[in-house]
Amino acid sequence: MSETVLLVGGGGREHAIARALEGSDCDLYACADNRNPGIARIAAGFETLDTTNTSAVRTYAEEVGATLAAIGPEAALQAGVADALAEAGVYPFGPSAEAARIETDKAYQRRFMREHDISGCPAFETFEDTEAACEYIDSSSTDLAVKPAGLTGGKGVKVIGDQVTKEGAKEYLREEGYERVVLEERFVGEEFTVQGLVANGSLRVTPAVQDHKRAYEGDEGPNTGGMGSYSDAGLELPFMSEDEYREAVGILDETVAALGDYTGVLYGQFMLTAEGVKVVEFNARFGDPEAMNTLPVMNTDFLDVLVAAREGDALPQLSFAPRATVCKYAVPEGYPEEPQGDTRITIDEESVARAGRATGQSSGEGSDEPRESVARAAAEGGEAQLFYASVDDREDGIYTTTSRAFAVVGIAGSIAEAETIAEDALSGATEGVRIRHDIGTEELVRSRIDHMSDLRGE
Ligand code: GLY
Repeated sequence: MSETVLLVGGGGREHAIARALEGSDCDLYACADNRNPGIARIAAGFETLDTTNTSAVRTYAEEVGATLAAIGPEAALQAGVADALAEAGVYPFGPSAEAARIETDKAYQRRFMREHDISGCPAFETFEDTEAACEYIDSSSTDLAVKPAGLTGGKGVKVIGDQVTKEGAKEYLREEGYERVVLEERFVGEEFTVQGLVANGSLRVTPAVQDHKRAYEGDEGPNTGGMGSYSDAGLELPFMSEDEYREAVGILDETVAALGDYTGVLYGQFMLTAEGVKVVEFNARFGDPEAMNTLPVMNTDFLDVLVAAREGDALPQLSFAPRATVCKYAVPEGYPEEPQGDTRITIDEESVARAGRATGQSSGEGSDEPRESVARAAAEGGEAQLFYASVDDREDGIYTTTSRAFAVVGIAGSIAEAETIAEDALSGATEGVRIRHDIGTEELVRSRIDHMSDLRGE
């Protein structure tokens, strides 16, 4: 039976999901707050709606006769979109609002880890009163990570001794009016992500990815939703061993066992420290940008994952092309503090296609059987892909919003080659956007390796 899949969300992550389903035996429909031109081009139908409005999403799912749904954004999960779709008989690949608390409530997340004795949990305290949190900051003799308990789009955490002083951290909590706060031991090391697909008690993991949260080159500036990311041709990253990757997977395994009935993506944000792998946080959905590193090199049909989940089966084993990826986001000028939204930009799809052609491969965009050609290209050589994110496709052109605009991903045999391809693809990036050009460069990757060597005393 051919499936009808509803994709919820309109960012780069969701464009990657749409492309992972393109060419599969399904009709794809999408709904998002913004009209993402990349998704709209792939989908049979696209509705612009508030994706936290559960009844609007449900009504659209019923209208298109959806049999399955893939839910991208955490805000939609928090609002209960998975619950509403399940009630309507549409199988959601995404957790219920209650299960998504593993991401949406950071105090719950840490207590859950403590209660289930999950490895990699820091020493922490939770607060429901800003002044009590400030007093704790004053009394602490060590540096702390300061985390608002609710969703902040990845921009809420402040690390004392790295991003802020004690005084700065207290000022931040008071200014923003955060009452529910987690204060925890600061980890020192290299961050990385491992995303697991979970259903019916089975966990299937994907290659490790390193995202770059800071706005500016050299890891300077405020936190963002993520400026770009890279992955290597194998499962690990250059600064970690196979055992360290396995340690992270072991933590995901423990967490899935503790969660019990959990469906969707379990995203582990880890810190590799001199003392082993620690948990920075869990998320309940694909990472953005990490989905753009992972899905383009996944040979397994994502639709098979969704169907197996719904049928109550163990998920299929995942297979990945042995290719490195480098993703670079173009963000509106001023992002994240004073983003210049509502600005018309030109996205040069031809530059991306040229960057792919320069390595003898196609871009995947617009080919006859895109998913197959992408997998083939990734298995054989280099390629560039363009992902639209939080842009709005209007009658007179493509406009920025206040969030990340578009990303390019270079795919090749090594991180260095993938980085060159991504830069070539971005050569047509127009005015009005800003890019972190250092992501995936040999210099940056070397600095990560050296950092871990230093911490290990090598
Ligand atoms: N890359 C960070 C996130 O998706 O939350």
